Amino acid sequence: MSAVEIKPLILVTGSNGQLASELKVQAPNHPQFEFLFLAKENLAIDNKEALHLFFEKNHIQYVINCAAYTAVDKAEQDTESAFLINSDAVGNLAAVCKMYGTTFIHISTDYVYDGQHHQPLKETDAVSPINVYGWSKLKGEELALKQNPQSLIIRTSWVYSSFGNNFVKTMLRLFKDKPAINVINDQYGCPTYAADLATVILKFVQKSESGTPFSGIYNYCNEGITTWSDFANAIREMKNSNCIINPISSESYKTLASRPSYSVLDTHKIKNELCISIPFWKGSLEKCIQLIPS
Ligand SMILES: NC(=O)c1ccc[n+]([C@@H]2O[C@H](COP(=O)([O-])OP(=O)(O)OC[C@H]3O[C@@H](n4cnc5c(N)ncnc54)[C@H](OP(=O)(O)O)[C@@H]3O)[C@@H](O)[C@H]2O)c1
Repeated sequence: MSAVEIKPLILVTGSNGQLASELKVQAPNHPQFEFLFLAKENLAIDNKEALHLFFEKNHIQYVINCAAYTAVDKAEQDTESAFLINSDAVGNLAAVCKMYGTTFIHISTDYVYDGQHHQPLKETDAVSPINVYGWSKLKGEELALKQNPQSLIIRTSWVYSSFGNNFVKTMLRLFKDKPAINVINDQYGCPTYAADLATVILKFVQKSESGTPFSGIYNYCNEGITTWSDFANAIREMKNSNCIINPISSESYKTLASRPSYSVLDTHKIKNELCISIPFWKGSLEKCIQLIPS
């Protein structure tokens, strides 16, 4: 009788989201792992009882927590839900992972910083969010590390993908409908292609599996610095659109939630420790745009 091979099982929560969808695309390239993708309907991370039952029944080696409350403006009024999902549920999930010997990988945000820096932001730089979403994510980081000091937290920024709703897809839609649009030009950051982030997360898992576990906070975004209006211009050029992009200030485009004016992430730590190079944002944008039907 031959022994049955048991592969490490990776649970991906929030599986209908952008990042989880990119992990789903890449999962077949990692046949050494078993993946379980669960959407909110099948596993709501804020349902404590369901989580415990689930972990009792399934032997999970890794959790990649892609579930989050990501509606940044809505969070200003729906504070309770934002904190429930981005803070309390994350702390609880981290604790459950510790209890079952599962590695907890969680995604956080550049919005934990206040935007007042003028140098790429290191993991050790002071955090002081300026909106409810940022506070809820920061509290989530703190609870995760308190409940489970082995948690791995990756802060990222300006995420887009061919899946879900994001800035790139909004621009492509507006280019079709409008001759001109206004886009903010005084917030600096770096876009992150969710497919690149998914690759890096799976690299962490592979390294852990081969005996090098990681924990603590890592910053990740694509290489480079831009503004939302230059990001929009790059998309316009790649699509040969004639839509005119008018650069405007944040002051003239009020949103419920304030956004940091500078949130470029310093990625030296992740590059050095994982021995990776990170693609420049325009190259990744081009790849993503090719996947979005016209
Ligand atoms: N998008 C960005 O620009 C950005 C920037 C920085 C950091 N991040 C972080 O990166 C991570 C991935 O973001 P993303 O862009 O992939 O987010 P996304 O596309 O909004 O996906 C989040 C997913 O989580 C699900 N979800 C919400 N509440 C849940 C719950 N209680 N239990 C289980 N699932 C739940 C959502 O389902 P419903 O849609 O049905 O609610 C959605 O499918 C998040 O942690 C986010 O905070 C994102």
